[in-house]
Amino acid sequence: MKPARRSGPRTILVYNPDGDEAARYAALIRAPRRAVTLHVCATAAEAEAAAAGAEIVFAWKPPLTVYGKAPRLRWLQAMGAGVDWALVPELPRHVVVTRAPGIFGPWMSEYVLGWCLSITQKTETYRQAQRARRWIGEVMPDRLRGKTMVVIGLGDIGRHIARSARSLGMRVLGVSRSGRAVPEAHRVYRMAAMTTALAAADFVVLVTPLTEDTRGFFGDEALAALPAHAWLVNIGRGALVDEPALEDALRTRRIAGAVLDVFIEEPLRPDHPLWGLPNAIITPHISGPSTPEEIAPIFNDNLARYLAGRPLRHVVDRKRGY
Ligand code: OXD
Repeated sequence: MKPARRSGPRTILVYNPDGDEAARYAALIRAPRRAVTLHVCATAAEAEAAAAGAEIVFAWKPPLTVYGKAPRLRWLQAMGAGVDWALVPELPRHVVVTRAPGIFGPWMSEYVLGWCLSITQKTETYRQAQRARRWIGEVMPDRLRGKTMVVIGLGDIGRHIARSARSLGMRVLGVSRSGRAVPEAHRVYRMAAMTTALAAADFVVLVTPLTEDTRGFFGDEALAALPAHAWLVNIGRGALVDEPALEDALRTRRIAGAVLDVFIEEPLRPDHPLWGLPNAIITPHISGPSTPEEIAPIFNDNLARYLAGRPLRHVVDRKRGY
């Protein structure tokens, strides 16, 4: 993609609604002097006011109203792992969207294995016993070694999780659209054969992108395929899962439990039934934090390319949805 043919600095709209995050990202942007002008925005009003001249948007979930007011927009760099929020009809088709691969895998692997270990090590049981001053020497921890983890979605994050799980001696089955073998998994299944993999799962990790094909794909059939001792870990998107079906499976103990970091509606409303289920572990969408220090170098590399008229890296295939 070539930058729009015009002279003068390129205008970058940096948007992040959280506190001073936009300023922190902006402070790490590196470009030749006078090559770029930055607009640092934390509110919809600020972003809309800066949109007219913006050629580049570097953002986390910008207000959709920005796109209609940004006729010069050519490139959107996402600050997060998923890009479903960027691939919306409001964003003109000619705008190139780029992702930030390579940085979330290590975070999310620790999250996934941390919770899996917490389950096998029965941390909650021992902590409860401690609070009651009870010595429960008859309760033994379990181990991850030899257990089977099914990883659904084998992008860079899923493969990192698979590698980490294998390093602890787990057997890893992957599920992906293509079913193509990857070195990180012992075996890979196509989506159509997912239930075969699920039947062998001790843990199943959802880390596939949310697309028209995957919305709600993890429902009754998938849950029924899991053994009763299996745990679901969802770090992808809440809407991958049929939430009422999951609630039912948890309530009736058709599966052992779920570690949930993402939800159809976030924040999860206080009266949501998932909060009250003892076998649901709920975290507030923190499994793969975006940090300016990790994401800005990816943006800067692409910015140098953009300014030089060279192709961008990590371009999202808008038809595929990731
Ligand atoms: C995401 C993220 O895409 O947290 O969900 O980065």
